[in-house]
Amino acid sequence: MTTDLKLTDLHPSADDIAGDVLRGLSSSPKRLPSKYFYDQRGSELFEAITRQPEYYPTRLELAMLADLGPAIAAAIGPRAHVVEYGSGSGRKTRLLLDALDDPVAYTPIEISRSALTASAGRLDREFGDVEVLPVLADFTQAVPLPQPSRAAASALVFFPGSTLGNFSRDESVRLLAAMRDTMGENGAALVGIDLEKDPAIIEAAYNDAAGVTAEFTLNLLRRLNRDVGSDFDLAAFAHRARYVAAEGRIVTTLESLRDQVVTVDGRAFAFARGEEMHVEQSQKYSDARFDALAAEAGLRVAGRWNDGDDWFGLRLLRRA
Ligand code: AVJ
Repeated sequence: MTTDLKLTDLHPSADDIAGDVLRGLSSSPKRLPSKYFYDQRGSELFEAITRQPEYYPTRLELAMLADLGPAIAAAIGPRAHVVEYGSGSGRKTRLLLDALDDPVAYTPIEISRSALTASAGRLDREFGDVEVLPVLADFTQAVPLPQPSRAAASALVFFPGSTLGNFSRDESVRLLAAMRDTMGENGAALVGIDLEKDPAIIEAAYNDAAGVTAEFTLNLLRRLNRDVGSDFDLAAFAHRARYVAAEGRIVTTLESLRDQVVTVDGRAFAFARGEEMHVEQSQKYSDARFDALAAEAGLRVAGRWNDGDDWFGLRLLRRA
């Protein structure tokens, strides 16, 4: 089915997967960018992770968005233009749009045209009164927002899932600063963050008993074998996820299970047995850590909500 959605194409530059992989494998320690986890199968595996009993963030955030609807709506006011960074399953977006007072428009910002049109089409069919104005762009840069036909009172950037935690600290500050530009003078951002807690709980969430997270991590190699023609042997690497307390983050690596050579684009990369290649980080936040990050980006925390156990948080950010 075709939709007549008005899509704004800001022509984001396409990912240079091969270049990124060659650069990552040439660095020491070796690394691969976590943004390449999300091919079709990777996105399905991530959805499966969110259904694992050990993976608490998605469940808690959904429950919070359902419970806190009135408080969030009161803080935002009527006629918001909701701007979502990335596009997930749409479950969280639905809860937010349901809670808000007369939202005028919804703008998902995505670098993948297929993911963007799929999520935009879904929301458009469900929310008749909300104008859906998707933008094809890289949300790590400021994005000029399309004008809804009914004037919006303010923009609300929505960045759930603690996805911010997958970026390095420098990248996070740049991303929050871009968010500040995108939201405008009287805008706000609603950001989901995973909080510091007992390390055993955090480690279990990234080492589920069913092995779905391990499969998700290894799928990165399968995806690269297909898309850059590498020859990673999936049976010769193992998923490792450890909580690094000093930094408050989960660090995920792929450990080489033997001495081996991997070839990418005609170039050979030697792995020693036991060598770990960095593939993802997932930052957990204290209030002090998050508030300092926001302040560096010229933002202040104007609303602060946690679940009853202080495991997961939603933060409303405004210009400082
Ligand atoms: C993409 C931030 C929601 O870091 O928790 C889950 C990705 N990786 N399990 C996270 C992920 C392994 C996830 N987020």
